[in-house]
Amino acid sequence: MNTSTLTKKVIKEKKQGEVLELSYKEEKKRKLYIESFGCQMNFSDSEIVASILSKEGFTTTKDITRADLVFVNTCSIREKAEQTVRKRLEFYNSIKQKNNPKMVVGVLGCMAERLKEKFLEEEKLVNLVVGPDAYRDLPNLIKEIDHERKAVNVLLSLEETYADINPIRLSGNGVTAFVSITRGCDNMCTFCVVPFTRGRERSRNPKSIIKECTELFNNGYREVTLLGQNVDSYLWYGGGAKKNFKKVDLQTQKKSINFANLLELVAQINPDLRVRFSTSNPQDMTIDVIQKIAKYENICNYIHLPVQSGSSRILKLMKRGYTRKEYLSLIDNIKNVIPDCAISMDIITGFCSEKEEDHKDTLSLMDYVKYDFGYMFKYSERPNTPAARMDDDVNEAIKQKRLVEIIEKQTKHSLINMKNKIGKTLKVLIEGVSKKSKNDFYGRTTHNATVVFKKENYNVGEYVMVKIEDCTSATLKGKIV
Ligand code: SAH
Ligand code: F3S
Repeated sequence: MNTSTLTKKVIKEKKQGEVLELSYKEEKKRKLYIESFGCQMNFSDSEIVASILSKEGFTTTKDITRADLVFVNTCSIREKAEQTVRKRLEFYNSIKQKNNPKMVVGVLGCMAERLKEKFLEEEKLVNLVVGPDAYRDLPNLIKEIDHERKAVNVLLSLEETYADINPIRLSGNGVTAFVSITRGCDNMCTFCVVPFTRGRERSRNPKSIIKECTELFNNGYREVTLLGQNVDSYLWYGGGAKKNFKKVDLQTQKKSINFANLLELVAQINPDLRVRFSTSNPQDMTIDVIQKIAKYENICNYIHLPVQSGSSRILKLMKRGYTRKEYLSLIDNIKNVIPDCAISMDIITGFCSEKEEDHKDTLSLMDYVKYDFGYMFKYSERPNTPAARMDDDVNEAIKQKRLVEIIEKQTKHSLINMKNKIGKTLKVLIEGVSKKSKNDFYGRTTHNATVVFKKENYNVGEYVMVKIEDCTSATLKGKIV
């Protein structure tokens, strides 16, 4: 592990002549196994981590039993997400006992940030705890482990965006990639742990974003998803966190680039590069952004627009920054400007003090919007968030019953939206071979709907026109025309 051990070994072997080259190389290629949980940002961060460690001589492996270093990039958003990680740690422990007692285990991401040193006390197996803004320090921390067995860095930053780091694409199909554009979040929704685990919001230099997207395109990628907790608040005026805005001179402010500008710059790289983005925040989404989506064919007609609740009273308690009416007027604007726009949501059931009438408001809002897709959750109290000081008074059975009701409604809406596509011919980007059949490809439409179809003589990464013939609530089936 340790470079000094490495040097010693090399010197020792030098005396033996020939063997040197081979074993030096073998020794140098230490193996990293990295697993990610939670949001797309975590998957994207893991690619940054892999890049930082590749410069230290690590290669990634998909076989945990061969790993010298096992990293888990963690999520704290709900208690269940944290329990999943704890279970994974038990599994790593069994591998360590069985295969490699020297295996180093590191916890990255949101749980690392939330629990800090406490993690080392709670999970004896863990050697390394590293928060989302401290990945550049990983090479030092790994060296530290050789002496101390444990190392921690959970410092949050006002500037870090890893702008210059070229991610190593891990989960790659070679066609679609995530590109992070902002980090952190300043919104402080009362239920949410993210502002505590990922720190203050900051935007990444647009030049580095355009460079990364252009390189991806030149390497055969055909879709980028711009990532941030709140992409609509992207703002670049020459550097630093958004909070420093007032300190910048007028000259620089004039040249500022907002999310609508950035979207346009990325769309202009090439008409064959599809652009998606996530996540939009209803209170920050501007008409400019909606117009850019309408203007460029390659900016996908799909917006993930979490609503959380259909009740203005609950939205206020959640500090969401919009009312039911404002959210619905944004939906109307989107549908007016982009008639063929798919919309998805996040909804939380059973937030503090939620009554049956609030829940009914959520159901009626869903009936109005008829979302194409959705992610639905039971409220999970997170320690130290503002909502943790409120009474988590909706019992588990009611949370569950309401969750089932919204999931059932959403499944119906998804099916209606999918059925509406039958008979249409839609442009699909081929992303890979279908898991169910070797003879089929899968890809997505501009609406983010998955389509499965016979391969014929096409290749992954190509666009094809597919006539939709059948569907379920989750998948379209069709034929290339
Ligand atoms: N800004 C990010 C939010 C990440 S959290 C984004 O919009 O993607 C993703 C979703 O998890 C939130 O939209 C919310 O619906 C859900 N969520 C967040 N905190 C939660 C909690 N304490 N309990 C249940 N669901 C939560
Ligand atoms: Fe969380 Fe709200 Fe930000 S949900 S990530 S605090 S926009």
